Amino acid sequence: MASRVAVIGAGPCGLAQLDAFEDAREQGAEVPEIVCFEKQGDWGGLWNYTWRTGLDEHGDPVHGSMYRYLWSNGPKECLEFADYTFDEHFGQPIPSFPPREVLYDYITGRARKRNVRRHIQFSTAVRWVSYDQAAGKFAVTVAPSDGGPGRTEPFDHVIVATGHFSTPNVPSFPGFGQFPGRIMHSHDFRDAQEFAGKRLLVIGSSYSAEDIALQARKYGAQSVTISYRTAPMGFRWPAGISEVPLLTGVDGNKAEFADGTTCEVDAIVLCTGYQHSFGFIADELRLRTPNVLYPDHLYKGVFWLDNPDLMYLGMQDQFYTFTMFDGQAWYARDYVLGRLTLPSRADMATDIAHWRGRLAECRGPSDQIDFQGDYVADLYKDVDYPSYDVDLTRAHFKAWEHDKEVSITGYRDRSFSSPCTGSVTPVHHTPWWAALDDSMATFLGDPG
Ligand SMILES: Cc1cc2nc3c(=O)[nH]c(=O)nc-3n(C[C@H](O)[C@H](O)[C@H](O)COP(=O)(O)OP(=O)(O)OC[C@H]3O[C@@H](n4cnc5c(N)ncnc54)[C@H](O)[C@@H]3O)c2cc1C
Ligand SMILES: NC(=O)c1ccc[n+]([C@@H]2O[C@H](COP(=O)([O-])OP(=O)(O)OC[C@H]3O[C@@H](n4cnc5c(N)ncnc54)[C@H](OP(=O)(O)O)[C@@H]3O)[C@@H](O)[C@H]2O)c1
Repeated sequence: MASRVAVIGAGPCGLAQLDAFEDAREQGAEVPEIVCFEKQGDWGGLWNYTWRTGLDEHGDPVHGSMYRYLWSNGPKECLEFADYTFDEHFGQPIPSFPPREVLYDYITGRARKRNVRRHIQFSTAVRWVSYDQAAGKFAVTVAPSDGGPGRTEPFDHVIVATGHFSTPNVPSFPGFGQFPGRIMHSHDFRDAQEFAGKRLLVIGSSYSAEDIALQARKYGAQSVTISYRTAPMGFRWPAGISEVPLLTGVDGNKAEFADGTTCEVDAIVLCTGYQHSFGFIADELRLRTPNVLYPDHLYKGVFWLDNPDLMYLGMQDQFYTFTMFDGQAWYARDYVLGRLTLPSRADMATDIAHWRGRLAECRGPSDQIDFQGDYVADLYKDVDYPSYDVDLTRAHFKAWEHDKEVSITGYRDRSFSSPCTGSVTPVHHTPWWAALDDSMATFLGDPG
């Protein structure tokens, strides 16, 4: 059995990995030494909200991309841990679209229950990972942020769980250098109230653009113009929000678009996505991929093709989140424990090509939901993760897509049933569009 496993990152993926090993240990398995390195001072990854932007207190890039008033953008039933349900955590059914603080409490609740904190070295960034062929081990160099000396330790397995929504993709447009207002990337967006009374331009047509446009208007922006590159989102936007083709440039406050139209704007938020960035991993081990549902070079979406003792969790674009991370973590665990063997490199490459070929044939969100649902189910079939109704989560995702088409401000007012317990959750006491207070106390309590 391998003797040491490094888990890099204590966000939802890293915590899922620690939980998976703890689950095996509780059932009597002999588990190797697990060391989790987390560069932040606490766990939860992106869900651990920070007001900071730019560099952190140690001069490292801030990891956090979440903002105040962020609510789940998908039904919580589609991310429910089958080994730790919402009903178990909250002691009662709660509505389907919780705000960030509530989901943070849930994620960390499982980690507290399983007491996995003891495995985590906080404020310890991994600076370099390489593989020593002769020794058959990875060398992991870490730097404690208290200024103490860095050190390099050997590991038999390395599991990368550092996320991929933290290094912004930041394009530029003609005239930006002279624009008289604020220009920022969504990575640095923290509080929609900053834009109250302003005319905001949002660039991008995915989840960040959608949500930041809505947030800004909800908290008082005078108008929001959303500029798309490939295709508009096409929702029935509330008054004050509109979509236009791609920005061609700005001239003072005047924004000009590809269809020749113009409008005056006071501030710009680039919701132009993120880069998979692993500057701490040696070249030959480093995943390079755009944000897609099945990155190349990862068998089962997890194992580095050229050296499966290196694993990556959560590197896919995501309909499924926590439940997909659990499937990956259970799979990685069972490989490390020797319960699962992997096929030859050629067979793994063929399998990856098969999935990616299927992905290329997906036509729209419904196919993509089925694709990722199939991927998640494919992971579960080989591991002992508690069973739950995956087909119901696909149906929920498709209903959710439909609800968004019907009402982009009202889709969070719907309720779904749990694929784990079957319980039907209540509708939130306040419509999302009118709910300005996102605290856990208000969400769970009486609105008064
Ligand atoms: C704005 C925004 C909103 C989102 N909203 C939702 C939502 O509503 N619902 C949903 O299901 N998902 C949402 N997501 C998706 C999100 O990716 C997942 O929910 C989840 O946080 C991913 O977990 P992770 O562990 O892969 O990564 P992360 O949460 O990013 O955690 C990675 C961890 O690794 C640590 N780390 C990074 N580099 C190093 C290093 N070199 N050394 C040591 N530690 C390191 C980081 O500090 C961090 O703690 C959202 C994402 C964004 C950006
Ligand atoms: N809970 C919430 O409400 C919430 C809120 C925000 C984000 N999130 C999550 O955060 C994650 C990331 O979402 P994201 O929207 O930031 O990233 P994303 O889904 O990767 O989308 C990136 C967007 O940027 C656009 N883009 C990239 N380069 C561009 C350029 N040069 N010019 C113009 N447009 C460009 C892309 O346009 P093309 O389509 O043309 O490629 C795409 O629309 C998702 O998992 C999402 O669920 C959740």
